[in-house]
Amino acid sequence: MTPTTDLSFIHRFVPATEESAPPLLLLHGTGGNEDDLLPLGRMISPGSALLSPRGKVLEGGMPRFFRRLAEGVFDEEDVRRRALELADFVAEAQEAYGLPAPIALGFSNGANIAAAMLQLRPQSLAGAILLRAMVPLQDAPASNLEGLPVLIVSGAVDPIIPAENAERLAASLAANGALVQHRILPVGHGLSQADITLAQTWIKQL
Ligand code: MLT
Repeated sequence: MTPTTDLSFIHRFVPATEESAPPLLLLHGTGGNEDDLLPLGRMISPGSALLSPRGKVLEGGMPRFFRRLAEGVFDEEDVRRRALELADFVAEAQEAYGLPAPIALGFSNGANIAAAMLQLRPQSLAGAILLRAMVPLQDAPASNLEGLPVLIVSGAVDPIIPAENAERLAASLAANGALVQHRILPVGHGLSQADITLAQTWIKQL
């Protein structure tokens, strides 16, 4: 299967097998690609359509969704531009594939761009699962996230994301009206079976 290149991001699209299952927007971490999260998406919501773009920024050959100046230090101008560009792609894909707004499922850099979309173009998403996310923009405008479900799963011993930073993200999304569940697992930056179980349970309750 070759990736699709006819929309504004190289991506994979897997149609839904269950009409009531919400589409998922899969957003990979640094060095990943459009194939990475397909198995995770399948596990978390088996009947969902999967829309999986490849980040356009390259860091030493590794795809990402926005530029960073150092680990955990973001080029915020680029974050803003890229989050809107990705939101435009989501709108294009909704039209092309006949989808309602998707739920983002992002890991690390992919979770961070999803959080930026929530801050800048919240109507692009019907909710978000943010695995190992941090605050993408220090002074984001207030956005209307009234009633939007968001699951944040952090690692208690994540060497990349300070606990305070993930807390701040959860608090700022909640302050804008999102229904935030923030869970902290006794793990590091990598994903664990517990992340999958939490996400499965969360998505079933929507
Ligand atoms: C980021 O750059 O988005 C975060 O530092 C996480 C990462 O991708 O390593």
